[in-house]
Amino acid sequence: MRAAVVERYGGPDVVRIREVDDPVVAEGELLVRVEASTVGSTDGTNRVGRPAFARLFFGLTRPRHQIFGYDFAGVVERIGPGVRRFVPGDPVYGTLSPSPGAHAELVRVAEDGVVARIPGGLDGADAVSMLDGFFTAIPFLRDGGRVRAGQTVLVNGASGTVGSAAVQFAKHLGAAVVGVCSTDHLELVRSLGADRVIDYTQGDFTDAGGRYDVIFDAVGKRTFREYRPALTRDGIYLSTVPTLPVLLRARHARSTETGRRAGILFTGLRTQAAKSADLALIGELAASRAIVPVIDRILPFEKIAEAHRRVDGGHKAGNVVVAMAPVLLETRATPEAAS
Ligand SMILES: NC(=O)c1ccc[n+]([C@@H]2O[C@H](COP(=O)([O-])OP(=O)(O)OC[C@H]3O[C@@H](n4cnc5c(N)ncnc54)[C@H](OP(=O)(O)O)[C@@H]3O)[C@@H](O)[C@H]2O)c1
Repeated sequence: MRAAVVERYGGPDVVRIREVDDPVVAEGELLVRVEASTVGSTDGTNRVGRPAFARLFFGLTRPRHQIFGYDFAGVVERIGPGVRRFVPGDPVYGTLSPSPGAHAELVRVAEDGVVARIPGGLDGADAVSMLDGFFTAIPFLRDGGRVRAGQTVLVNGASGTVGSAAVQFAKHLGAAVVGVCSTDHLELVRSLGADRVIDYTQGDFTDAGGRYDVIFDAVGKRTFREYRPALTRDGIYLSTVPTLPVLLRARHARSTETGRRAGILFTGLRTQAAKSADLALIGELAASRAIVPVIDRILPFEKIAEAHRRVDGGHKAGNVVVAMAPVLLETRATPEAAS
């Protein structure tokens, strides 16, 4: 099979398509022919090997896992002995996180791993674009922020993968949502259900006098100290990015303590059971169109280095998809896909 292989840390051009051995499916496992995957922010940071301490986990001198990508959508090609829930031909989506390997034409997934049938009406590109953002936004808002109807939630970075999911999920929970992004993305964020959008290029929302029950900094661009005055008395600031100040202040994030506080979660490290439950929720919400995929662009698998470049830019709107199945490019003749 073909896979995108990263043999050393560096810029987007270190990602090369290579022939590698097909995975061998074992008992209780599915072999999935991948139609689409996403290149996400985590792939970008894994590729450059920063921050430096992350190399303790990802490989000191070169990446330990040389095939990146966590999320996949595709079709079950073969099943191992004992598999009951799936048959060859089933359209499925899921995640391999915390171990990568989805930037490949075939992946091996445990039947009791984080995998489910794709809800009707979604193709592979749509399906895979529901994963990274919602797998992150759901636990942050539901478990970290305990968001409930009537609260006001501000999402900073509302047009990114995590932010666009957070806007939608906070609306689903019944909150009033304020999204912060740049001028180019105001319409997108409004279309996802935000009650108000703030253009960060035109001013600082913390100066505008608003008070929020939850501030979710999906892109970790500011500090708790800067946000604190914009929180309600018992408001919580949640960040996806583990900076030292956030880590030092984050100890009360999931406690029942009151007062203005900060929190962080590491959603990729949650149990398979917790992720599977959230995949079921994502499936239900997607099937009822309560949430929709947000796709920045779809690129052919061969152009995966370009996908990494787009991610490195820090301004993608939603997800950057790489398509292994040419049909996804044909049916979605976006300028990016066609180029
Ligand atoms: N802790 C966890 O468990 C966890 C899980 C998943 C992801 N993450 C982390 O979450 C972060 C976000 O990931 P992502 O994939 O959502 O990022 P992303 O899609 O790359 O974010 C891009 C968005 O950020 C916006 N942005 C850029 N500069 C901004 C600024 N100064 N103020 C407000 N918005 C700004 C851009 O909007 P404009 O173009 O309009 O500027 C763009 O739409 C990453 O650092 C990732 O590693 C953490």
